Amino acid sequence: LALVERPRDLEGLSVVISAGGTREPIDPVRFLGNRSSGRQGVALARAAADRGARVTLVAAHLDADVRPDPRVEVVAVSTADELGTAMDAISPTADVIVMAAAVADYAVAAVSEQKVRKQDSPGGLTLELRENRDVVAGLVAARREGQTIVAFAAETVADDAELLERARAKAARKGVDLLAANAVGWTRGFETTDNALTIVGAGGEVVATASGTKDDTAHALLDAVMATRGARRH
Ligand code: CTP
Ligand code: CA
Repeated sequence: LALVERPRDLEGLSVVISAGGTREPIDPVRFLGNRSSGRQGVALARAAADRGARVTLVAAHLDADVRPDPRVEVVAVSTADELGTAMDAISPTADVIVMAAAVADYAVAAVSEQKVRKQDSPGGLTLELRENRDVVAGLVAARREGQTIVAFAAETVADDAELLERARAKAARKGVDLLAANAVGWTRGFETTDNALTIVGAGGEVVATASGTKDDTAHALLDAVMATRGARRH
């Protein structure tokens, strides 16, 4: 095991990271979820702590084997709405915000107080969904001077060109300082320790590409964050 001495370049900074995947209840025993393990967000939190930051992790259903570093303050949430409420409450004092969580785009319009029973919908069932608010859009709208906001995008794409095109469009649409995009599919991107990120800036420029373990890509993303912050100061 190689011991890497990290620069303490995030000393004095407050970093808020969301991680994991939200769950939207259908009834008391069921939910709509996604495959996010929380691994990349937890790796980011540890990397930021290693580099001297004060770190808060807003965690939505991390996989059981994904454990946040003890130096990181953890706020547990479940639904997209709860995640948004937590991020809104914690973010005003943050210097860096990273939305690594997979946030549900829709919630069940009418959550059933009782278990949904098969005999009530023989042959099939239609669930009506309503759109959740966009948490990162709210954070961008409330962004204060000196705050750096990073979004993630997990995309199913045909090739690197499509990933870049989608990353650029999403960075512009979200108004974030940086967007880290990765390709996902049935057999890639989830439940893995490795990742590959394409990191674009607000203007769609490729700031960095990084691949390796989720620790490696976490440090690469923090490098990009610090470069962006440095560039803005001069
Ligand atoms: N996000 C958010 N609030 C939501 C949905 C997403 O803050 N309700 C954040 C994610 O945490 C991520 C970024 O927005 O950092 C991009 O998420 P993504 O799902 O890729 O983008 P969407 O705008 O939801 O577009 P789509 O799912 O249609 O690709
Ligand atoms: Ca989405």
